[in-house]
Amino acid sequence: MKDDRSTFDCGTGSLNDWLQKTARQHQEKNLSRTYVAVPADDPGRVVGYYALAATLVQTDGMQGRKLPREVSAVLLARLAVDKSSKGQGLGGCLLMHALEAVVATGGIIGVQCVVVDAVDEPAANFYEKYGFVPLANRPRRLVLPLDTVRQLI
Ligand SMILES: CC(C)(COP(=O)(O)OP(=O)(O)OC[C@H]1O[C@@H](n2cnc3c(N)ncnc32)[C@H](O)[C@@H]1OP(=O)(O)O)[C@@H](O)C(=O)NCCC(=O)NCCS
Repeated sequence: MKDDRSTFDCGTGSLNDWLQKTARQHQEKNLSRTYVAVPADDPGRVVGYYALAATLVQTDGMQGRKLPREVSAVLLARLAVDKSSKGQGLGGCLLMHALEAVVATGGIIGVQCVVVDAVDEPAANFYEKYGFVPLANRPRRLVLPLDTVRQLI
């Protein structure tokens, strides 16, 4: 189905632009996959989205067990909710949906963690609420080990 992403506004310009201008190109080039949320009574309108991609993460600054210098991970490349739908549980719901996809992927290939680069302090706080841990040397980059993800969902 065709969706209307032109009116999407989460309050962060770069995240609006990415959905409107980049998501489709990334999809076509297999660089990332974008998943959108639409209201049941207005299925053409996008009110939230997230994007996932495969990545490698440097473990320098990561807490926990000893790991190789780089590990495979799923990058939560983007996650945003339209202003009209904020504070109603959609962001948490999209995050859980994304984490289910990560666990499924981890069941097929080795995935050590989920990683996200928070756009700002409030975004970092949002992820920390779900157990994401900031890297000691790069606090806007947060990781959630797959072992923890499995306990969350
Ligand atoms: C961050 C964002 C995705 C949250 O979406 P949302 O739909 O408003 O969040 P929810 O209603 O699902 O809230 C889920 C929980 O997170 C909490 N939460 C939401 N925003 C938060 C914030 N900025 N800091 C800390 N906690 C936050 C809520 O209080 C809620 O907790 P509760 O379950 O105990 O009540 C949304 O505000 C957004 O799109 N922001 C702009 C883009 C952005 O920053 N995206 C992050 C990408 S790096």
